[in-house]
Amino acid sequence: MPGLPKPAEVRPLWEHLPQDLIDHLERVSRLSGELATRWGVDPEAAELAGFLHDIARAQRPDELLRQARDLGLPIDPVEQATPLLLHGPVGAALARAAVTGAGDDVFQAITWHSTARPGMSHLEQVVFLADKLDPGKAGYYPPGLEPLGQLAQAGLDQAVVFYLDWQLRQLLERGSVVHPAAVHARNWLLLRPHGDKLTADL
Ligand SMILES: [Fe+2]
Ligand SMILES: [Fe+2]
Repeated sequence: MPGLPKPAEVRPLWEHLPQDLIDHLERVSRLSGELATRWGVDPEAAELAGFLHDIARAQRPDELLRQARDLGLPIDPVEQATPLLLHGPVGAALARAAVTGAGDDVFQAITWHSTARPGMSHLEQVVFLADKLDPGKAGYYPPGLEPLGQLAQAGLDQAVVFYLDWQLRQLLERGSVVHPAAVHARNWLLLRPHGDKLTADL
């Protein structure tokens, strides 16, 4: 049974991706590892999921939709209308087919990194947040997201809710549809008994 591969070992499989996307994958991998260490989550699984989270991000919307259908993935009407939302589930399926030695937890973290989901694991929360914490090409966070880094150090649940609140406001202001998993994730996090057990004494 092979061990968990390191990001550097799987990187050659995705060398064809645009360089700015590879740079994002590497930064999110590093951020995921750091945040995982902060919260007692397996940093190697987080680094691998962080590296793989956007491997389908460069694909065209029609291609994502076709692949999702071919893979037999469930397609929500919101995803049908906004196929870019399928890059997590499609990427997870591609990673599952290409990477041996990783557990289901890694692929779930890839699947749900855009929307979050109710019942999400701490590894899923770590990768979700690390993705949003990468300032990207602009080098700064969008207005309103600045506290996210500090919040992610203080508690995973509250940081994920903070981001989902921010995203929901953006979508509502634009009159956009909202992915049901994001709404269900937010409700689940708010209703979870006793909140996040992984909350720092700050
Ligand atoms: Fe993504
Ligand atoms: Fe990303």
